[in-house]
Amino acid sequence: MSMETTLIILKPDAVQRGLMGRILSRFEDKGLAVVGCKLMRISKELAARHYEAHQSKGFYAGLVRFMTSSPVLVLAVRGKGAIAVSRKMMGATFGSNAEPGTIRGDFGVSNSFNLIHGSDSAEAAERELGLFFQPGEVQEFSRAADAWVYDTSGGKIE
Ligand code: RTP
Ligand code: MG
Repeated sequence: MSMETTLIILKPDAVQRGLMGRILSRFEDKGLAVVGCKLMRISKELAARHYEAHQSKGFYAGLVRFMTSSPVLVLAVRGKGAIAVSRKMMGATFGSNAEPGTIRGDFGVSNSFNLIHGSDSAEAAERELGLFFQPGEVQEFSRAADAWVYDTSGGKIE
């Protein structure tokens, strides 16, 4: 696993329910770095591009309606293995069967209003970061805390 950046979206239900801070804190608590952040309203066109793989599915129209219904908080999150680590923190897609301890498991019970999106592969992360962030909006910086989040004594990030 290497350093990765993933796209996380706190969906309209997370924003409306006042859960942004508590969900964002979980990523910071884990040691991951927030390197991009914007509150925005997703257009129908952007939702369609983001979820283009689901266009033929029965839930697609409702999904686009939900994602465009109210503002979302879009995050770029960086860390070692950040894509898989974030997906694990999110939990299973449906709140009704997401494990306790995960974001979806702890904060929701709905299958459609499931609070959070996270890229599911390196290819998806690159594509989705490009959809939501303009060049320069994802910051490059080092954190002092990284010296204690990661073991670099062997010459690589562990
Ligand atoms: P996401 O893309 O939002 O991170 O969620 P995911 O990978 O866990 O799930 P995915 O299969 O990509 O589905 C995308 C979103 O569509 C809604 N969905 N509804 N009613 C249904 O059967 C159904 N299946 C999926 C969810 O909002 C899911 O997050
Ligand atoms: Mg997905």
